[in-house]
Amino acid sequence: MFTLSVIIPAAGSGIRMKSDVPKPFIKLHQKTVLEHTVEAFKQVPQVQRIVIATSGDTLEKARTLFSDNGSEPEVLCIEGGSERQYSISNALQKVGDVDLVAIHDAVRPFVRVKDILECSEAALGIGAAILAVKASDTIKVVDDSAFVTETLDRGKIWLAQTPQIFRKDILLSAYSKALESDLAFTDDASLVEHAGYPVKVIPGDSRNIKLTYPNDMQRAKPIIKELWQK
Ligand code: CTP
Ligand code: MG
Repeated sequence: MFTLSVIIPAAGSGIRMKSDVPKPFIKLHQKTVLEHTVEAFKQVPQVQRIVIATSGDTLEKARTLFSDNGSEPEVLCIEGGSERQYSISNALQKVGDVDLVAIHDAVRPFVRVKDILECSEAALGIGAAILAVKASDTIKVVDDSAFVTETLDRGKIWLAQTPQIFRKDILLSAYSKALESDLAFTDDASLVEHAGYPVKVIPGDSRNIKLTYPNDMQRAKPIIKELWQK
C-alpha cells in the first residue's frame, strides 16, 4: 500500500476557450471542470491530499468551491507562483509525508481510477511514470518556412497526458535542480528526465482529453455519456 498526494495547477486563462472564466472554472455537466477533476482523484483510496495551486480571484473561487470539504482526502487551495514551475514548487511544500506525488491538469476531468492506479504502481517501482496515448497521426518536424525537415517514426511517438506521477524524493530533487538552472519546462516529466531519472510511459485512454478549445466542450459530451451517466 502506498500513499499519494495530487497537485493540480489551476491558474490558466479562458482565452483559448473564448471564455471570461478561466478554463478550470467553466461549468460542465452541473459542476465546474475543476470539481470533476478533484472528484476523480477522491475516488482513489491512496490519495491523502489534493493541493490546488492558483492565485488572485481564482484562488478565492477555488477556496469557495472546496470550503465544505469535510470528507477525506483533504483539499488544500494555495497561492501559486509567477510561473507554472514555481506554482508546482510551492505546492510541493504542501503535499505532506507521502510516497508519491501526482501532477494533473485541472482541465482533464475524465481521468479514470484504473489508469491513476496503474500509473502509480509504475511510479512506485521506477520512480516516474506518465499516462500517454500512441500518436495516430504522423508527426512532421518543420523549419521556419514550414518545410518538412524530418518525419518521426510514428511507432515511437506518444502524446503525454496527465497524471504524471513521481516518487516524492525524485520530484523534489528534480525541482530543486530545475530552479537552480532557471530552465523552463512544459511538463513535469521533462524536468525529471532532464535531472537524469528514467520516466516510463503507461498507455492511457484517449478519452482523458484536455479541455482547451471551445470544440473540446463538444468532444466532452459523448465522453460524459460513457463515463459519468452509466
Ligand atoms: N500555471 C501555474 N502558475 C502560473 C501560471 C500557470 O500553475 N503562474 C499553470 C496553469 O494552471 C496551467 C498551466 O500552468 O495548468 C498552463 O498555464 P497557461 O498557459 O497560463 O494556461 P492555459 O494557456 O490556459 O493552459 P494550457 O497552456 O495548459 O492549455
Ligand atoms: Mg498556455
